[in-house]
Amino acid sequence: MASDTTTAILTVEGLRKSFEHHRGKGTGRPTAVDGVGFSLRAGQTLAIVGESGAGKSTTGRMILRLIEPDAGTIHFDGVDIRSLRAHELRRMRARMQMIFQDPYSSLNPKVTVGAAVAEPLRFHTDLSRRERAEEALRLLERVGIRPDQIDRFPYEMSGGQLQRIAIARALATKPYLVVCDEPTASLDVSIQAQVINLLLELQAERGMSYLFISHNLSLVRTFADHIAVMRNGQIVEAKPADELFDNPTHPYTRQLLSAVPVPDPHVPGLLAPDGTHEETHMQATGSVAARDRDR
Ligand SMILES: Nc1ncnc2c1ncn2[C@@H]1O[C@H](COP(=O)(O)OP(=O)(O)OP(=O)(O)O)[C@@H](O)[C@H]1O
Ligand SMILES: [Mg+2]
Repeated sequence: MASDTTTAILTVEGLRKSFEHHRGKGTGRPTAVDGVGFSLRAGQTLAIVGESGAGKSTTGRMILRLIEPDAGTIHFDGVDIRSLRAHELRRMRARMQMIFQDPYSSLNPKVTVGAAVAEPLRFHTDLSRRERAEEALRLLERVGIRPDQIDRFPYEMSGGQLQRIAIARALATKPYLVVCDEPTASLDVSIQAQVINLLLELQAERGMSYLFISHNLSLVRTFADHIAVMRNGQIVEAKPADELFDNPTHPYTRQLLSAVPVPDPHVPGLLAPDGTHEETHMQATGSVAARDRDR
């Protein structure tokens, strides 16, 4: 894997997708993703931010070819992934993983925690059964799941624990790219910062790139290298994170920024463990995410 940060691990151009029975909010057109392009450097994080229905998840799923694009090119690690045959794509899949918003639905309820993490190793490595179990144990310990919990089933774990397990499972195949689709949106506010911190530690250890999908601008500001603002299937503005906050040029970006609450440093008890206002941000904007979803 190229760890040189000037190298693009992912380059997307002209990505397009229409759904037959769908009409876009505000546009009336069936195009969910309408000519999206960006590039993501190795080891970095690109956040895609926008309101519900903007086309964020559809974009993420097309990159992993969980949904077939109507048009566009996707180069991952130098390979045009739309040209890959099924068996080549299968091999490539080990290198691109996705973490979903709802960890309950991304794990099989009938499979124990340890087996869920060992499973991808069966398809993507030559490890023996025992080695797979050992590796799963190591991965689970790394994400904060105790060895005595590996024989449990998903329903016996909390939401935050399940998301940690989903992260361990995604990392089992040593991906270069992880598409994180609102990975903390379903979690309690107190747990969100822990899961984000875990993702950031793992990124620093492994040099992975993240495509991080979120409603929440103030959340992604704390760790994204670049931010792309998406609306009605298009990216309206994409910039280094600091620049986007300091000098937003598109009216929609400004509108989103004006909706970001400013944390009050005088309110006690809302500081993140490291003394920042991270959780205050998340708490305040978490309600925006919920409101968008409820519409
Ligand atoms: N399988 C599908 N069939 C029909 N329409 C779809 C399908 N998947 C997505 N859409 C539509 O495409 C648009 C974009 O959806 P998408 O899920 O990508 O948005 P999003 O930005 O991820 O939204 P959210 O923040 O709510 O997750 C939406 O209007 C949605 O209704
Ligand atoms: Mg989505």
